[in-house]
Amino acid sequence: MVALAAGIAPARAARRPIPVGSAAEIGAFRGDARYRAALKRYCDVVVPMNDLKWQALRHERARFDFSGADEIVAFAEANGQALRGHTLLWGEALPPWVKEMTTRAEAERELVNHIEVVVDRYKGRIATWDVVNEVIRYDPTEGGPWRDTIWQRLLGPEHVEIAFRTAARTDPKARLVLNDFHFEEPEPGAVARRKVALDICRRLKDKGIPIHGLGMQAHLYAEKAIDVDGLQRFMRDLDGLGLDVEITELDVIDWKMPADAALRDRHAAARVSTFLDAIVAAKRPRAIVTWGLSDRYSWVGETFPRKDDAKARPLPLDADYRPKPMLAVLERYRRGTG
Ligand code: G3I
Repeated sequence: MVALAAGIAPARAARRPIPVGSAAEIGAFRGDARYRAALKRYCDVVVPMNDLKWQALRHERARFDFSGADEIVAFAEANGQALRGHTLLWGEALPPWVKEMTTRAEAERELVNHIEVVVDRYKGRIATWDVVNEVIRYDPTEGGPWRDTIWQRLLGPEHVEIAFRTAARTDPKARLVLNDFHFEEPEPGAVARRKVALDICRRLKDKGIPIHGLGMQAHLYAEKAIDVDGLQRFMRDLDGLGLDVEITELDVIDWKMPADAALRDRHAAARVSTFLDAIVAAKRPRAIVTWGLSDRYSWVGETFPRKDDAKARPLPLDADYRPKPMLAVLERYRRGTG
């Protein structure tokens, strides 16, 4: 009681609301009115799940196809929602012609041109970009910091600097983010990835190349612990670099859990709460974005198939758009009572 007598606010003092949102998958967006209604109802922020990736934009080398991205951007703007762009550079979701590139000069020319055209098109509309996605090796304790991609092979570590420098030059007002996953667990690989992420950010800042934040994808595993202390040290280290944090692809991979839906939903909500409570207690994220809204559409079930015939339940709404306990956790942060 002494602490309160000294006027120190209780742990759960009213906090500023945190924008909450979701990725939007174009097939569901176009084909399911309930999907669009849920995006409109539950999101302050929207990110095209796939339509700003090279695979969607660049079927042919000489042409850009913005049709999917334009639809989702227009929807978000019509609903007064903020937009995230995902992603200007990734080693996956690439059209075949990119993988056929053979020289440094060609890779740099294509990367710079792509970022200039895409960022310029949405200048002043997409406020935040995942400039690079998943450039860190899954486990840096085995073989060094960099993931083996066409960009790393042809450009070396400089591929990250070229991407950030080009994005900053094209839209100086955009917030530029390094986005990656597997930071959350108390495992040596996750600890090493947190260090590599900080090293990359520090190098960009030391070179005067604009970077504004780190994106934690936060694909949480239901059966794995959350490294609360490690995450809070990570948040303090980001503060030390003057960087923001945003949660960019939150969902819960429940393939190792028993089939019981109510049990899985309670456990997933508890995992999300433990994770967000740990982050928010140390640093207020700029946004909390889930990688979809309804279990009806998620990457998790296909990528992490369960041994039984139970369907994955990774997201805040079930397959019939009914709220699950995870939604209440997100809404707490959206209202500022988290
Ligand atoms: O829409 C087409 C459909 O018309 C076609 O019939 C079908 C079969 O070829 O493909 C459909 O597109 C697929 C798309 O998902 C549909 O949602 C693409 O092939 C498939 O590659 C794509 O997978 C996406 C994956 O990234 C690769 O881009 C997932 O939806 C998406 O959830 C996933 O998201 C990634 C993030 O970008 C980065 N972090 C990890 C996360 C999960 O893998």
